[in-house]
Amino acid sequence: MATRDDLLFLRALSGEILAKPPLWLMRQAGRYLPEYREVRAKAGSFLGLCYNPDLATEVTLQPIRRFGFDAAILFCDILVVPHALGQKLWFVEGEGPRLEPVGDAQRLGEIHEEIDRDLLAPVYETVQRVKAALPAETAFIGFCGAPWTVATYMVAGRGTPDQGPAKELFTRDPDLFARLIDRVVAASIAHLNAQIEAGVDAVQIFDSWAGSLSEADFERWCIAPTRRIVEGVRARHAKAKIIGFPRGAGRLIPAYIAGTGVDAVSLESDIDRGFVREQVQALVPVQGHLDPQVLRAGGAELEREVEAIRASFGAGPFVFNLGHGILPDTPIAHVERLVAAVRA
Ligand code: CP3
Repeated sequence: MATRDDLLFLRALSGEILAKPPLWLMRQAGRYLPEYREVRAKAGSFLGLCYNPDLATEVTLQPIRRFGFDAAILFCDILVVPHALGQKLWFVEGEGPRLEPVGDAQRLGEIHEEIDRDLLAPVYETVQRVKAALPAETAFIGFCGAPWTVATYMVAGRGTPDQGPAKELFTRDPDLFARLIDRVVAASIAHLNAQIEAGVDAVQIFDSWAGSLSEADFERWCIAPTRRIVEGVRARHAKAKIIGFPRGAGRLIPAYIAGTGVDAVSLESDIDRGFVREQVQALVPVQGHLDPQVLRAGGAELEREVEAIRASFGAGPFVFNLGHGILPDTPIAHVERLVAAVRA
């Protein structure tokens, strides 16, 4: 009898080399889809959408219906973890997330020890509903942000070009920063385990700002906390598949794999393919790494890049994806071309 382990996406994550790579796109449920914009308008706010199981289930399924991707990713955001730890969170239209910054011992003291399960209950309900509605051949991915990336938002209260406020804090008061990271690690373990228990098949840890750390800081603030999350998930779910996305880590990716124990890594667009083949894909399956701008531009360059990526990684275990989230002004016709080219 067919089991979840037979899904193409999970077979690739288990190291199997497939004739055609499974395909999904980061941010595949998003503003480039008119049906998403319609539901988003109905929800009123982005967070209102994340915490509404009816609407979040609908938008999670939209890209699966339209494109038949091999995996769905839960519609939510990495910043619901600090929200569930008691930090105020809101999204400013057209700008992005805002949080009440936690930059000192007093503010950190106000951050809870454990996540508020009542706040996140609608997210886990969304997982159950999506799981029940997904086609049998579609895998389901849950996620969290890595502690470093989440902490950059918690400390600055918003996105920052250079992660300056978080770096300033770990330089000035590493013990305080370590306590913040510890809270996020514990919360992330609980959040990922709850998603797995509600029905996701695999999880991805997004470390969008991994590339801004020096080698020593990368070991301390990226690798070590991520390893604790991997261990905390495996302690409950020994076979859980975990993808790490240390965006921008480049040459440090082999150390990240060895140090964290993730099952697979997602790759940014700007990385040397020969290096990946020899020193990354030799260790674990890889996922990536089409430049979102190439997808937006479309045309012959898109076809060439898809071929080049398949030629580079198709001889090993591989999942086709972007190197970062799909851009909101990406034409749907280009995504259709991509799907056809990856499956040709
Ligand atoms: O990939 C998916 O489709 C799953 C859902 C998902 C979202 N955000 C939905 C979202 C995931 C996995 C994320 C991860 C996330 N969120 C990251 C890590 C990955 C990355 O992009 O670097 C980060 C740093 C965040 C925090 C965040 N959320 C920012 C900085 C923003 C504003 C920028 C933007 O694109 O608008 C968001 C908002 C957000 N998260 C949107 C979506 C679909 C857009 C909100 C809208 O529709 O108005």
